[in-house]
Amino acid sequence: MERQMLRADLEKLRKNEKLLVCDKEVDPKYELGAVLKHFSNKKPILFNNLKGSKLSIIGGMFGDRHIFYDMLGTNHEKRIFKFMDTIVNPQRTKLLDNGPIKENIITRNIDISNTFPIPTFHENDSSSFITAGIVVIRDPETGNRYTSIRRLQVNGGDNLSILIASPMFTNQLKELKGKKKDLEVAVILGYDYPFLLASQLSSELYGVDKYEVDSALRGEPLELVKCHTIDLEVPAHCEIVFEGVIPHDREVQEGPFGELMGYYGKVANHPVIEVKAVMFRNNPIFQVSFPCREEHLSNGLIREVELYMHVRKFADVKDVNVTIGGGCRFHGIVSINKKQEGDGKGVILGALGSNKDLKHVIVVDDDIDIFNGDDIEGALATRVQGSRDVVMINGAHGSGLDPSHNMRGITDKIGIDATKPLGENGMKFNKAIIPGYEKIDIEKYFPNLKD
Ligand SMILES: Cc1cc2nc3c(=O)[nH]c(=O)nc-3n(C[C@H](O)[C@H](O)[C@H](O)COP(=O)(O)O)c2cc1C
Repeated sequence: MERQMLRADLEKLRKNEKLLVCDKEVDPKYELGAVLKHFSNKKPILFNNLKGSKLSIIGGMFGDRHIFYDMLGTNHEKRIFKFMDTIVNPQRTKLLDNGPIKENIITRNIDISNTFPIPTFHENDSSSFITAGIVVIRDPETGNRYTSIRRLQVNGGDNLSILIASPMFTNQLKELKGKKKDLEVAVILGYDYPFLLASQLSSELYGVDKYEVDSALRGEPLELVKCHTIDLEVPAHCEIVFEGVIPHDREVQEGPFGELMGYYGKVANHPVIEVKAVMFRNNPIFQVSFPCREEHLSNGLIREVELYMHVRKFADVKDVNVTIGGGCRFHGIVSINKKQEGDGKGVILGALGSNKDLKHVIVVDDDIDIFNGDDIEGALATRVQGSRDVVMINGAHGSGLDPSHNMRGITDKIGIDATKPLGENGMKFNKAIIPGYEKIDIEKYFPNLKD
């Protein structure tokens, strides 16, 4: 039995009949992305027959909310509190002398794209891209290890470009540039659900060692080994590690790349990683996370914790949804048990201030299912009067990933209070009920019904 990381999760996914295996030949250029996209990146797929490579690729692991919950040993109702608990109570990691990741180590003639089957996803992408690499750096002051996914453009040989949209990471690089020093980094592939989720915490907001949050999430110490050429640790049971430095004095052109919201990001100069050593397990499995849905969801699960924490002081909050359609960052839906007039507007204030990326928020009563678009639309249609319930803030900070924001460099934010009034006026909004509806066993009426 595998202990931790990708192979342990593949065993579980197989056992739960959640893993699709593809033995037909697939071209990593476009075809692999097309197959993953067919399932909206919601199905974990192991590709065993790749054109031009003897290795396998795993993709689509992180696009389904319910698979995420199962693999993390939680459920929809408990998720926010479980994640909050691990942020507040991180746990120790365990350093091993050796681990499977050290089965193969290359330090000379490194040629990344010839060694691994790295996909190209979109027509106008500038190169093949490593889209699931979790990059780890160490904060020199606290010693905390910060992990995050950053897309990596394959530049040839041992060279990768890295796209960093993070204040903490960018500040660290700026500081080192001033001192003419390079930053040590390792890129990790072949990890599991807790490792990914921990990586999505905002380093700036929480400032915790994400390896320790991972240990808390998995309920046992994350097992680590030391890197071969740099002073960082990496998971002992992962599949592939690229270790090296981000030099202080080099940038190269990166992009275009079809990114988060399905648009091509702009071409610009970005830092590079010079890879000094590659470690990998025997028969390593290359890991892919498709932009869009998988980025949305993994990041969104953590953003729901953040949104919940910000709005719960304004009302009795039942649940929050940072929606997939809104890139799991631009749109928040909050359901509340309204106790006084003003609760809805209070939640709007808290939500729009919770994160610069959150652009539109809708507040509804707790009889609305906030994971059902029709239900939300119904509340907007019947419980909102624009002049009274819509709040607009002009010219706020926004996300660089929103093209409409990029046109002006600032964004408008909108909050909609779609809650019904309290008291007698609220009675008009009571939903019509069919007695006995919940107890209907439909198979008794249609025994051959499949779906
Ligand atoms: C599949 C996936 C791809 C991502 N790609 C990038 C990326 O290319 N650049 C980036 O800055 N953030 C990317 N992210 C988001 C960051 O990983 C995330 O915001 C970060 O881990 C938060 O940590 P930080 O506060 O240290 O930035 C990606 C996330 C996922 C799940």
